[in-house]
Amino acid sequence: MAGSGARILLTGANGQVGHELLRTLAPLGEVTATGRDGLDLRDESAIRTLLRQLRPQLIVNAAAYTAVDKAESQAELAFAVNARAPAILAQEAAALGAWLIHYSTDYVFAGDKPQAAYLETDPTGPINVYGRSKLAGEEAIAAAGGAHIILRTSWVYGAHGANFVKTIIRLARERETLSIVADQIGAPTSSSLIADTTAQLAAQLGAADTGGTSGVYHLQSAGTASWYEFASLIVDRLRGAEPQAVRCREVLPIPASAYPTPARRPANSRLDCGKLTQRFSLRLPHWRDDFERLFPAILGK
Ligand SMILES: NC(=O)c1ccc[n+]([C@@H]2O[C@H](COP(=O)([O-])OP(=O)(O)OC[C@H]3O[C@@H](n4cnc5c(N)ncnc54)[C@H](OP(=O)(O)O)[C@@H]3O)[C@@H](O)[C@H]2O)c1
Repeated sequence: MAGSGARILLTGANGQVGHELLRTLAPLGEVTATGRDGLDLRDESAIRTLLRQLRPQLIVNAAAYTAVDKAESQAELAFAVNARAPAILAQEAAALGAWLIHYSTDYVFAGDKPQAAYLETDPTGPINVYGRSKLAGEEAIAAAGGAHIILRTSWVYGAHGANFVKTIIRLARERETLSIVADQIGAPTSSSLIADTTAQLAAQLGAADTGGTSGVYHLQSAGTASWYEFASLIVDRLRGAEPQAVRCREVLPIPASAYPTPARRPANSRLDCGKLTQRFSLRLPHWRDDFERLFPAILGK
């Protein structure tokens, strides 16, 4: 599908993943990139008008309401951006015969699966408003009946935007001790890996979904970490890079129960990515390798 002449619409271009997609989608066609100012996803008629004018062959929706804790008190807004807008995008995509690539989250699961990573076929059961709004988005996209790829990812970080890595860097410069949750596990996944993978799979999509490719796929770095392990590595690398600037002397593991937040989070956020890697012949790097590669750029920001 995506060749040099393809018309591509990217939403959420100012977000962590959207920013990286600007780079990776560029070789695939003519990209129209919109942020909130160019296309507010709460505005149904603006979405429909833009899509009917542009007639893209591929829509990549990187926009989302991602404030997990705030969502508990802003459910209407979270559902408008995470469920209603994807429904409209999917309806218009189906009418145009376009592909829709959309992102979802590990938070569609309850996180109580013992030991193993979640498969796409495992029952969902979100335990917070954000997760419920993202699941509703997935369901609406499938219901629209068009060609679509939903990539569930997790623990996103990168050089552009606010994320866990940047928070830990700031706290390590300010505090002597950091207490970090050790009983939630997943895999940090960089915005650049998500964007690179998106472009790789977009390049493999046909003009229409003749091969039954549509559906949900898991996209997460290889390996497993707890937030505590991830924070420990970040502080260690920061100490190596700027020994004078780091106040933090120890990172302490704590249970999630000792760090209450408005939204509950899943304990197990591991996602099995075999379906994605097999269907699109991809390899997903270990989260540690990806982090080591990106850390200098994050620090430089
Ligand atoms: N971040 C994570 O850890 C994580 C984990 C799992 C899955 N995901 C999923 O991955 C995808 C990308 O996430 P991300 O980390 O790149 O998110 P992000 O950095 O928060 O970016 C989301 C973008 O959506 C835009 N947006 C929000 N409301 C909008 C509206 N009404 N109209 C238009 N644009 C709007 C935001 O604009 P403003 O900048 O103006 O607010 C922001 O640029 C999302 O689908 C997210 O649910 C993320």
